[in-house]
Amino acid sequence: MRSSLVRYGVAALAAAAMVLTAATGATAAPPTDKPAKGPPAPAADPADDLTANWTREQALRIQRDATNTKPEIPPTFPVMTDELWIWDTWPLTDLDMNPVSYKGWHVIFSLTAPRDIFFGDRHWVARIGYFYSRDGQDWTYGGDLHPEITPLGGREWAGSAVLTNGNQLQSFYTASGEPGSFGQDDDPVQRLAQSAGRIKADKNGVSFSGFTEHEVIAEADGEMYQTLEQSEAGPIIYAFRDPFVFRDPADGQVYALFEGNNGGVAGSHTCDPAEIGDVPADHVVPEDARYYTGNIGLMELTSTGQDYSEWDLLPPVLSAECVNQQTERPHLVIHDGQYYLWTISHEFTFAPGVTGPDGLYGFVGDSLRSDYQALNGSGLVLGNPEDAPLQNYSDYVMPNLLVESFIDTVPDGQGGVVYGGTLAPTLQIDLDGASSALVAELDYGYIPATRNVAGKPIR
Ligand code: FRU
Repeated sequence: MRSSLVRYGVAALAAAAMVLTAATGATAAPPTDKPAKGPPAPAADPADDLTANWTREQALRIQRDATNTKPEIPPTFPVMTDELWIWDTWPLTDLDMNPVSYKGWHVIFSLTAPRDIFFGDRHWVARIGYFYSRDGQDWTYGGDLHPEITPLGGREWAGSAVLTNGNQLQSFYTASGEPGSFGQDDDPVQRLAQSAGRIKADKNGVSFSGFTEHEVIAEADGEMYQTLEQSEAGPIIYAFRDPFVFRDPADGQVYALFEGNNGGVAGSHTCDPAEIGDVPADHVVPEDARYYTGNIGLMELTSTGQDYSEWDLLPPVLSAECVNQQTERPHLVIHDGQYYLWTISHEFTFAPGVTGPDGLYGFVGDSLRSDYQALNGSGLVLGNPEDAPLQNYSDYVMPNLLVESFIDTVPDGQGGVVYGGTLAPTLQIDLDGASSALVAELDYGYIPATRNVAGKPIR
């Protein structure tokens, strides 16, 4: 989420993002070759205590170029609906991470807020809405997914939605704030939650029923994942959110990735050599870098059958300690047998002394738990153009390497800005080992399913 470096503020968001300057300077040529092929190493167990690092060495290599810079979006972009701000968006998927259509209807879920409130206030009144489409591009708003706002929080933040058993839909989301805190911007607690319902489709469209029972499926434990209380000792916004649920083909188990901060009281961390990496001799790690503890968390489903309520927290798969505070909306694509781990981050959440654009960052490993390497040597996959640093955000990569996102704040060409709150042009990337490249810009909001489900059991 975009916020100021001060914990709860939202008003100074754009300003906070703007004060940070461009790249601190590249220090080494990014490796672009495929990872060296040797005899396959035995894959680590997802439950192992192996957390890869996004290092300062890698972050120092971040540099915009033609392969990683998003095309500019004109201020005259089309708007999906005049009623709602739309931001973080995820497609209906199966457990294998494929976007699926149901009886021929493509379905997406978005965070929504009434379009007549200030764009920056949308986070505090967010609800998960859904849209359906015949062609994966022309979307009709269907309403709120959960008939009543979650009883577990004050608003609903990002997650994932998985079709598990014919017409059973598992909604995984972030219950943000304490119950009753709808509209309040000073209640940053976050819990991972789930609710089950059913999808129905006919020739007129898609609807949902159920979602009357909601359960918390994970809370920060204070050891692997920082609690809100621990975070309050520091000056920076807090994260325990954005569950992405999938099945790992390697072991057939269901897992969730999510965004967290490393456990422990803020400020008690130290930037160690594994987090710093091989930086130039004159690189100074500022004291305050220790407050930046973003991670990509992992948990495993332990309940069976169609029960998605019991999970075990596992150690994070990736830590951005001393590099970045926010590794938002983590998700996964398995491509050419490699595990590509994606996250989005902001310029203003980079630790002091390193920086990068708002955008999509990626890492590649041999298995779910592995020594992930930053794509392109730096992690940067798609960043906003220098002249439009807040242009779009919340990129989500699908297995066909299409990347959807929403339009955030676009310069109007006259010194002002236009707020988006609608889907951005979909981009296409190419992957070759540890390298990525932007290859095409497609239509606004093009999020096609790659598999149709006609209501028969798929788990
Ligand atoms: C990313 C994000 C998510 C969060 C939501 C809140 O844009 O910050 O991490 O769930 O927005 O609005």
